[in-house]
Amino acid sequence: MDETQYYNTTMMFKVEYLWILMMAASLALEANGGATKYTAMYVFGDSLTDAGNNKYFIDSLAKADYLPYGMDFSGGPTGRICNGKILVDFIAEMVGLPLLPSYADVIAKGESILFGVNYASAGAGILSDTGYRFGRIIPFEEQINNLRETVDQLIGQLHGNEVSKYLENALVFVDIGANDYLNNYFQAEYYPSSHLYNLEQFADLLINLYRKHILEIQGLGLRKFLILEASPIGCGHLRSHNLKCNATLNHVVEMFNTRLKSVVHDLRSNYPGYAFTYAPSSKLFQSLFDNAEAYGFKVKDKACCGGSAGSNGTKPMCFRNTVPCPNRNEYLFWDSAHPTEAANRILAALLHNTTSF
Ligand SMILES: *[C@@H]1O[C@H](CO)[C@@H](O)[C@H](O)[C@H]1NC(C)=O
Ligand SMILES: *[C@@H]1O[C@H](CO)[C@@H](O)[C@H](O)[C@H]1NC(C)=O
Ligand SMILES: *[C@@H]1O[C@H](CO)[C@@H](O)[C@H](O)[C@H]1NC(C)=O
Repeated sequence: MDETQYYNTTMMFKVEYLWILMMAASLALEANGGATKYTAMYVFGDSLTDAGNNKYFIDSLAKADYLPYGMDFSGGPTGRICNGKILVDFIAEMVGLPLLPSYADVIAKGESILFGVNYASAGAGILSDTGYRFGRIIPFEEQINNLRETVDQLIGQLHGNEVSKYLENALVFVDIGANDYLNNYFQAEYYPSSHLYNLEQFADLLINLYRKHILEIQGLGLRKFLILEASPIGCGHLRSHNLKCNATLNHVVEMFNTRLKSVVHDLRSNYPGYAFTYAPSSKLFQSLFDNAEAYGFKVKDKACCGGSAGSNGTKPMCFRNTVPCPNRNEYLFWDSAHPTEAANRILAALLHNTTSF
């Protein structure tokens, strides 16, 4: 078999396989009333969700392609900013999908797009200049452009009607917004936003853009959305020097989340037949933090790895080859800004119990 034949056979196999998959998914959807199964998942977000998109950016400070990141992940470091699985991995498992490839791995290594793609990028925000001090990252708008490319790829492989059915039954997961505060508004030395807007105006600005982006994703044929609250930046982030929850900062994110919630409600009433779900992830994390002991966590005020992040916010990460804590399941925070796999597992269960997706 020469290369072209091999390629054609592979493509045919893929198309055939995708078709079978879609049939199976439709049957499953019919069987359980459409409540739990999705054909695929498309993921947008920041460092809590990035599964490796930043790792090909040579100069990026917001990447985790080295040990001890990934030390508890089969296959080692992938770019996930965690010792093991991140929240979206557990959610994929819960809805019966495999772990999703990151968009960069689809491009670089030709990984399969059949079950969806993860476009999230550490450091990214809703505004395009958010996080620029980390080096190259992928803002929300560019993440959506990447989805557009995936959809074109699907259209190249399938009939139009099949593609639209496939997309209609896919889940869109969005978790973004915290960096617009941490790595934009609250860095007045580097960003103009706090000079231009008060907190109310800034939240309005973010929310209007957010809504516009959700509608762009919808315009590509997606119908089911799981929209997460922006994460509680006051908890365990670089702004607080010890990992306490800073109520002032959390209140700021709440201004954003309150607006997000009403946007999701509006979308729901404006688009019957679509599913827009608001996931109170910030409140759930706060409750996990408050009741950490009850969930088996012994340490919540210190990161398992590092914990002495640069106070200027350029590198809230665990450094290469740092020896982390041995009892990782007892820590809520892996590094100074990101939960451990153990915490992500519980958060996913809490989310599932609250929203049932
Ligand atoms: C909370 O964060 C704000 C803004 O960075 C800061 O001014 C304040 O001192 C912090 N409060 C605590 C208790 O750390
Ligand atoms: C910010 O932190 C980085 C990493 O810790 C350090 O290299 C840099 O010099 C710091 N910059 C300032 C202005 O403190
Ligand atoms: C989720 O709900 C199930 C069933 O009610 C319960 O057993 C489980 O403990 C809940 N998970 C969490 C993390 O609260």
